[in-house]
Amino acid sequence: MKFGKRDHDNLYVKENLNEPKFIHKFLLKLLLKKKYIDFLDIGFGNGSLLKLMKYQCQEKKIWGCDINPKLINKAKKFKNIKIFKEDILNPRRKSKFDIVHASGVLHIFDDPHKLIKNMVNKCKTNGTVFICTFLSEEKIDVITRYKIVNNFNYKKVPEQMGWNKFSKNTIINILKNIKKIKKFKLHKIKFPENLIVKKKKDVLRSWTIKKQKRSIFKNSIFEQEYFYIEINL
Ligand SMILES: C[S@@+](CC[C@H](N)C(=O)[O-])C[C@H]1O[C@@H](n2cnc3c(N)ncnc32)[C@H](O)[C@@H]1O
Repeated sequence: MKFGKRDHDNLYVKENLNEPKFIHKFLLKLLLKKKYIDFLDIGFGNGSLLKLMKYQCQEKKIWGCDINPKLINKAKKFKNIKIFKEDILNPRRKSKFDIVHASGVLHIFDDPHKLIKNMVNKCKTNGTVFICTFLSEEKIDVITRYKIVNNFNYKKVPEQMGWNKFSKNTIINILKNIKKIKKFKLHKIKFPENLIVKKKKDVLRSWTIKKQKRSIFKNSIFEQEYFYIEINL
């Protein structure tokens, strides 16, 4: 699959989040039940999960990989965290990890199968793959292209990709057809009502709205029901 333009991730170069994301605190709870040494975060963005993991689990070996050279350079300054550059759609490294994690990455690609398969291949037998993404309860996959139209030269505005929403059904079918997978579970993440993220100038950045006594994330493309997909090998 040819990967199209996606400027959105450049925001992570300047961004430093000190407060951990709610989804990553949710992950820490899921990890409490696991025995592991090596933890790999694929597509680490601003690196906030890598720092959280090293702080919370000092005896673990924490690894991060990303495709963006600017994010790699930034993360190489983090202490006691191993960083390498890799395109998860074309992985070259043979090393395997006990826990293989990616949040906010699955929806970037038009075909979710390749990412899931490559993550499973990076994980040791008896290890666990965790994928955090938004999914649709309906049987429909939404594959988007969008343009940021802030000037009048419309034809020259590049079309961008990376905001897709797959149905739970599609993901379940993919997982059922990968032989190495022993079992899997989809954990729905319920954001508390008091989690409030304000809308920013950048219309792709997600903000929260209130619905049925809880917070839901959305951006100008769609609402996002988040899940952690736990895959046991
Ligand atoms: C939306 S960000 C998610 C960042 C972070 N994981 C989080 O939850 O906040 C997507 C990340 O995936 C990385 N990425 C995009 N395509 C990739 C690829 N083919 N291989 C590895 N990383 C990739 C981007 O550079 C970016 O850091």
